[in-house]
Amino acid sequence: MTEPTSPESAKAWSGRFSEPVSDLVKRYTASIAFDQRMWRQDIRGSLAHARMLARQGILATGDLAAIEQGMAAITGEIESGQFNWNLDDEDVHLNIEKRLTALIGDAGKRLHTGRSRNDQVATDIRLWLRDSIDIIDRLLRDLQEALINLAEIHSDTPLPGFTHLQVAQPITFGHHLLAYFEMLARDRERFTDCRRRLNRLPLGAAALAGTTFPIDRESVARELGFEAVCENSLDAVSDRDFAIEFCAVAALVMTHISRFSEELILWMSPRISFIDLPDRFCTGSSIMPQKKNPDVPELARGKTGRVFGHLLALLVLMKGQPLAYNKDNQEDKEPLFDTADTLIDTLRIFADMVPDIRVKPEAMAAALRQGYATATDLADYLVKKGLPFRDAHEAVARAVRACEARSCDLADLPLDELRSFSSLIGSDVFGVLTVAGSLAARNHVGGTAPAQVRAAIARARSRL
Ligand code: ARG
Repeated sequence: MTEPTSPESAKAWSGRFSEPVSDLVKRYTASIAFDQRMWRQDIRGSLAHARMLARQGILATGDLAAIEQGMAAITGEIESGQFNWNLDDEDVHLNIEKRLTALIGDAGKRLHTGRSRNDQVATDIRLWLRDSIDIIDRLLRDLQEALINLAEIHSDTPLPGFTHLQVAQPITFGHHLLAYFEMLARDRERFTDCRRRLNRLPLGAAALAGTTFPIDRESVARELGFEAVCENSLDAVSDRDFAIEFCAVAALVMTHISRFSEELILWMSPRISFIDLPDRFCTGSSIMPQKKNPDVPELARGKTGRVFGHLLALLVLMKGQPLAYNKDNQEDKEPLFDTADTLIDTLRIFADMVPDIRVKPEAMAAALRQGYATATDLADYLVKKGLPFRDAHEAVARAVRACEARSCDLADLPLDELRSFSSLIGSDVFGVLTVAGSLAARNHVGGTAPAQVRAAIARARSRL
């Protein structure tokens, strides 16, 4: 006598249940609407699992061949849009397994031997994130390269450097851009680090405690490109710290992009007018005919908020969960996917936009003629003549006040007037008070001297 078989429409666990869920509960508990995008990772994981089962003699080689054929067919169906994703089958794992069984019969039902959706989904997400990190790393690199290229063109272009958004000291635009190169370099390191930690295989943990079958986890890890297996089965199926880490790194990238965006927006304001953005990254106003708005950087600044939100959502999702797997974890996917999508789109647009930023060196130079950007240079000059720094600071502050009263720059004061603030001032002071002199004087690693900026660009290129 054969076992009673369940009808095609039945749930994988229908034997235990006496009534079906309502349509609302079905929709509430299903993840198929959003987790279907992990189908490639799901099939990859299933194939590696099936091959291991066959190697270990747990699955017949004929069944493995059928599974491989069935998965190839399913891949074709999904790629061509023919696959029928079904809400009744809850998630990507059950949808694919159901279709596999419909295609190849009992061999399809044997695939889930020694496995649970708990270790299956944990594996899929890790594979998916690994792929996403690889895409993001390439985009970060593209943006870094765009920044270096623009910095190279402007390694000599002076503009005011600001602190407190007040004119501080002259810098070069190339130096300014390289600051973002460094931020992105650290972001890439963080992603590399995050990737290394998540690159471990959960499969074999099964539901939570492991499995009674003589599995070989190491070989599955090798086939899937994982560095090692997760050491503890409870941890493997339940923790999503790697997803939180991913979102935390993404939040930092967006923070950097958001700061850059804020600058682009300010720089494009007619009151500052240091740059112009190409029309294809801006939009107009439906009422004010003159408007050209920097929508792309504004939206990037805005989207930073949603990425922060996803990070917080995942932290809160995790914090109250007892070991091991809980259905709460199904809620990890939408924040993760949206984080990756937002980051990828943002980085693509920025890598495309940065090379076409139109820089306006005249406006930058004009801004440098206001705000006494070389006052520190004058103080340093006095120190080099022997005055203690605090006294030099005081003397220059008085000189600045005199300039303010006359609406002129420090370099516009005649020598004898300058000498009234300190008798140490000589005619050599005017070299110090120029923007070019100020820039060239900051001639050490990490400084804004054009020669240093060019050297930094060369080093940055070799780091890419
Ligand atoms: N769709 C589920 C998720 O995303 C898969 C795991 C379900 N496991 C379970 N025991 N219900 O987490």
